[in-house]
Amino acid sequence: MRLVVGPTNSGKSTWIERNHQDAVFAYELQRGHIPASDAVLHYNLLLLAPKRFRSGAPLITWNLLEDEVLKGCLARGEIDKATVIVAPIDDLLDRATARTEIEETRPGTPAYPADMWHSILEQVDLFSLYQQLVDVLEAHNIAYDVLFNANGTDEMPQTDRCFVHAALRGRHVPLPPQEDIDAVLGFPGVEYQEVLLPRQMTTSHQRFSHTNGSRRQTFDQIADTPLRDRSVLDIGCAMGDMLFWYERFGATQLTGIDLRQSRLDAAKRIGELLHSDARFICGDFLKSDEIGPHDDVLVLNVLHHIADFSSFLAKAVELTRERLIIEFPTLQDKKFRRLGDIPEGLDHLPLIGVSSRKVDQTFVFTRAALQRLIDDLGNFEMETRQSPFANREIAVFTRR
Ligand SMILES: C[S@@+](CC[C@H](N)C(=O)[O-])C[C@H]1O[C@@H](n2cnc3c(N)ncnc32)[C@H](O)[C@@H]1O
Repeated sequence: MRLVVGPTNSGKSTWIERNHQDAVFAYELQRGHIPASDAVLHYNLLLLAPKRFRSGAPLITWNLLEDEVLKGCLARGEIDKATVIVAPIDDLLDRATARTEIEETRPGTPAYPADMWHSILEQVDLFSLYQQLVDVLEAHNIAYDVLFNANGTDEMPQTDRCFVHAALRGRHVPLPPQEDIDAVLGFPGVEYQEVLLPRQMTTSHQRFSHTNGSRRQTFDQIADTPLRDRSVLDIGCAMGDMLFWYERFGATQLTGIDLRQSRLDAAKRIGELLHSDARFICGDFLKSDEIGPHDDVLVLNVLHHIADFSSFLAKAVELTRERLIIEFPTLQDKKFRRLGDIPEGLDHLPLIGVSSRKVDQTFVFTRAALQRLIDDLGNFEMETRQSPFANREIAVFTRR
């Protein structure tokens, strides 16, 4: 069965009518209705929102699999393909205001509750719900198309999960041909991070497999705050993977800086393919004077390479409006421990380890040491999160 999914008023019924298919609604499946063999599941991405709205639960985002119908269909393998429809948020709001009827006429639901849907659409984070949806589809190996449906056009042209954020803001980015993606994959320097490209392709990271490739796991650890319209500075951004994830989740004003020209060129080339608004600067962060404050400032796997880490941190703090996020190697770092007989049980102390040149890694830190360094620079609350890298941690410093 094909899943046709999008928020209320995104154009699911129109797509189904145009494709002459029978539709079954989630509530019908819940009541035990057996769909025709060629039926499609007409599924509102915001199905769980009205209940949350009425109960006063937060409406920003939630786990889509809290819905037993969707969870059950996926678990039983009943969905084999999907059509994901994205409409600009402004169009969704206009359509919700204008609408009076609901097509899935259930007994006792006479009219479309326009005010409620308008309010829901103003609050929900569609950027993150769509990314969660495609993650779920990909995790279940379900082939899917992403279609763009703006007011005033009859067509629903194809786009991609990488461009959903643009679609929500009213900009259609067409699905690029495979040759355009291949050209980026062959670009020199496209090798260090595993960046998601359109058509579910990724850049290779084979030469640097110790870094785990994609920065998605670190991103997930810090994406627990709404990222819509947030600004972010990534210091030592390499190929820009982190910035591209922030952008898909709705962040704007994205700045990346890195010393290495080859990585920056790769970031720019990928950014062109992704129609990204990220700005990339090649240079030493300590010497750069063209960067202003950002909501989130990222220092991921960089600090341990920086000789003057105190000045580096002071400058990063100066540019932090809300969160400074540092991913760093701890005393448990394997290269560091190869240096000699380092006693266990020191991790709670504010210690900075200095390694020899031989092992090509300059410093390791305990979280207490980082907290101590940052305490001198501003009033922050520190929390730590798990890094996907062995013996590293993520420290999130939030301004009080
Ligand atoms: C180990 S990589 C980490 C890349 C990325 N942040 C990540 O987590 O995948 C460190 C990056 O920081 C960059 N870098 C090191 N010192 C820097 C400096 N002073 N200014 C800007 N970038 C720097 C390097 O060129 C390199 O790309």
